[in-house]
Amino acid sequence: MSRRALLQTGAGLLLTAALPPGAGRAAQSSDYRIAAAPARARLAGAARPETDVWTYNGSVPGSLVRLRQGEPARLTVDNRIDQDTTVHWHGIRLPNSMDGVPGLTQPPIKPGETFVYEFTPPDAGTFWYHPHSNSLEQLGRGLAGAMIVEEREAVAVDRDLLWFLADWRLTGDGGIASRFGNRMEAAMSGRVGNTVTLNGRVSEAEPARAGERVRLRLVNGSLARIMGLRFEGHRPVIVAVDGQPCDAHEPERGRILLGPAMRVDVMIDMQGEPGRRYGVIDDFYDGLAYRLTEIAYDERPPLRPHPLDASLDLPRNPLAEPDLATAERHELKLQGGMMSGMMMGGGGMQGGGMMHAMMGMGGGPAWSINGLSMTGDGHAGMEAALTFQRGRSIILTLRNETAWWHPMHFHGHSMRVLSRTGVAVPHRQWQDTVLMAPKNVVEVAFVADNPGDWMLHCHVIDHQMAGLMTVLRVA
Ligand code: C2O
Ligand code: CU
Ligand code: CU
Repeated sequence: MSRRALLQTGAGLLLTAALPPGAGRAAQSSDYRIAAAPARARLAGAARPETDVWTYNGSVPGSLVRLRQGEPARLTVDNRIDQDTTVHWHGIRLPNSMDGVPGLTQPPIKPGETFVYEFTPPDAGTFWYHPHSNSLEQLGRGLAGAMIVEEREAVAVDRDLLWFLADWRLTGDGGIASRFGNRMEAAMSGRVGNTVTLNGRVSEAEPARAGERVRLRLVNGSLARIMGLRFEGHRPVIVAVDGQPCDAHEPERGRILLGPAMRVDVMIDMQGEPGRRYGVIDDFYDGLAYRLTEIAYDERPPLRPHPLDASLDLPRNPLAEPDLATAERHELKLQGGMMSGMMMGGGGMQGGGMMHAMMGMGGGPAWSINGLSMTGDGHAGMEAALTFQRGRSIILTLRNETAWWHPMHFHGHSMRVLSRTGVAVPHRQWQDTVLMAPKNVVEVAFVADNPGDWMLHCHVIDHQMAGLMTVLRVA
């Protein structure tokens, strides 16, 4: 069996079933070969036509990459699509030259070429990988996969599950709607699709057994769709956000908010009744709630009479604690997009006034950060908007002056979220992607300890492409 086949089989098994610790690990656990290549996938069930997709190793999501904390990894990427690509290992604090931003951190990988990524993941947790080149189309056609970095000691759960969630815009004949980069969408909510898949297919049910404790790793791999997940009849406890363990806590009002690129790990004690089904609902967008899947209990009696009483806490990762007293303060203002007042009138999309209310309808970019619009996916010669001295503690104030939600992502670092619009954030969790509501002001803090030029951008990819991006330098 070839190494590639082995990886594929491993990924397939892992994604459709549980992830027992160590299962699917190749002999050399940290050596992967990943080919970006076209394939076909049955996203929406047997009754619907197959879809032409772009994949990592032939499947959507791509091969599951499992690494071990503190152990060197080597990932060889082959480009078998007909355009330049790169791979970005989202959330991993790695050396700048391995960050996968074309022009800024590496030359693009040309069709037929190969690039070897090598790094040692310092943090255990749930991460993911995706292209950083023509991202709107490449991610929108399916190029994405999950990356799990295992803790040094196994965590006490009955099953370790991954739900890689992705949003697609499918046409009636099963194709992926082509028009990427619609200017109107780019100035609004971005390319939200019409089909949400769980591990690469529309899901009707996910099996469970009464009494078990499950660690569920949620990844939102969508271009633009924000999710707000409710688990009927269950009380999931958030134990990590964006790969970083946090104080175990229940989500606010029982809803797990998951912006594009965000990950949330929850622990769920399966306290439902054998034989019953419970809905998992995404009701983020008003009036557009849908059933993501159902948790389907088998008939077996509960695994144990009472929930497991092992601790829910995950071991913390080695992040440097910012010194808030001496931290340097900076502000980033997010501006642009369709204006709020225009959306409220109830009149929909007509009227020339509305058109002029958008920045950039004259052909320029739709968004800016501190008055500057960096567009695209990254390219040579991008100037850093801010330069931090290596080792300094930084407090960044992100000001969303727009009428839209933005999951703001910073490469190469994790940020402690201190406050939201003047209110202290209860768990001050670490995140690499911070979801900002319209008009939110969020303060984050971090130690600028990873040298290089790092992107900071909105992970609604249309927003990034249309100007909601900047570069921060750690020198
Ligand atoms: Cu997940 Cu610059 O991105
Ligand atoms: Cu990233
Ligand atoms: Cu945005």
